[in-house]
Amino acid sequence: MAEGPGQGSGTALKAPGDFAQRVLAWFDGHGRQDLPWQRDPSPYRVWVSEIMLQQTQVATVIPYFERFMSRFPRLADLAAAEVDEVLGYWSGLGYYARAHNLHGAARLLRDRHDGDFPPTLEAVQALPGIGRSTAGAILSLARGQRHAILDGNVKRVLARYRAIPGWPGQGPVLAQLWGLAEELTPGERPGDYNQAMMDLGATVCTRANPACARCPLVADCRAHAAGQATAYPQPKPRQVLPSRAAWFLILHNPQGEVLLERRPPTGIWGGLWSLPECQVTENPLDWCRAHLGVEAQLVEKLPSRRHTFSHFKLEIQPLRLQLATWPARVAETDGLIWHPPGAALAVGLPTPVARLLREISGDWPASDGIP
Ligand code: ADE
Repeated sequence: MAEGPGQGSGTALKAPGDFAQRVLAWFDGHGRQDLPWQRDPSPYRVWVSEIMLQQTQVATVIPYFERFMSRFPRLADLAAAEVDEVLGYWSGLGYYARAHNLHGAARLLRDRHDGDFPPTLEAVQALPGIGRSTAGAILSLARGQRHAILDGNVKRVLARYRAIPGWPGQGPVLAQLWGLAEELTPGERPGDYNQAMMDLGATVCTRANPACARCPLVADCRAHAAGQATAYPQPKPRQVLPSRAAWFLILHNPQGEVLLERRPPTGIWGGLWSLPECQVTENPLDWCRAHLGVEAQLVEKLPSRRHTFSHFKLEIQPLRLQLATWPARVAETDGLIWHPPGAALAVGLPTPVARLLREISGDWPASDGIP
């Protein structure tokens, strides 16, 4: 028998079957039953929906899914299409690697698997763009096979239910969550159970303000019992990022234009146009002489500002310099351009550089006595 919220015996451990029964009973009354991919849930339709749902909300995905399916109703249609057309149907969903992988996997399935999904988790997981959880979702939702899933919603439900400490991105925490997911997934109705767990996470066991009073698992949820539901799962630990500082050189020509330098194609701001940069340990005037062959004079040090990248912080120290000499060597050759600071540029500028140029636009008199 399924147990309703508020019943049960405190936080004592219950058998996995009891857990699944409560989840399934909740699903029958409150789960989502009419999502487009739940109609005719073939592996192909479930796969496309799961890929679209990876970084995107259900409400956003629905119209994309409907349009995609009317143009590519079968896996063979997707495999036969050109990737550019597939990308067109993805346009606006973002994370375009997903569309490339979808198209690549469709061709692999056509060429190596007789145009259908293989029967095992391992073989499905070997396809581009399909991880363990997505493979489990495809085979359970579409084929009724017993496989666990562990997307963000399910991680949250399970981490709270057992009050599992740590951030799920850490290997041992993830392994513990997978172990629990495997243990709790039932042999009966595994597809409905997996859909129910995702729905429970999305609609009841939400990140903020979970509706514990409506949860079928509240009776023995350890996080709830401790009054700590939202403390689980723990967030990604904040890293202390290393920081480095650089002079950002604002070099004006007599027209008041600013010299921009193209960044190398790889690394931060790869291929974008930026200000010439040198280490704060270097003398910027010496740097100009050595790297650009120009004599420059310091005009003004502007307030420094900080930009945070994923793995370090950059302290930007802008310096305005005027040029005493300007040899022909520094012309608009490849990799260097003159840019009017107030003008829009067709090429890409890093955000802090664009902001800096906007700030200084207009306050550099063209007749500044520079020869
Ligand atoms: N998010 C990921 N997969 C989903 C599904 N099948 N239904 C609803 N939300 C989801």
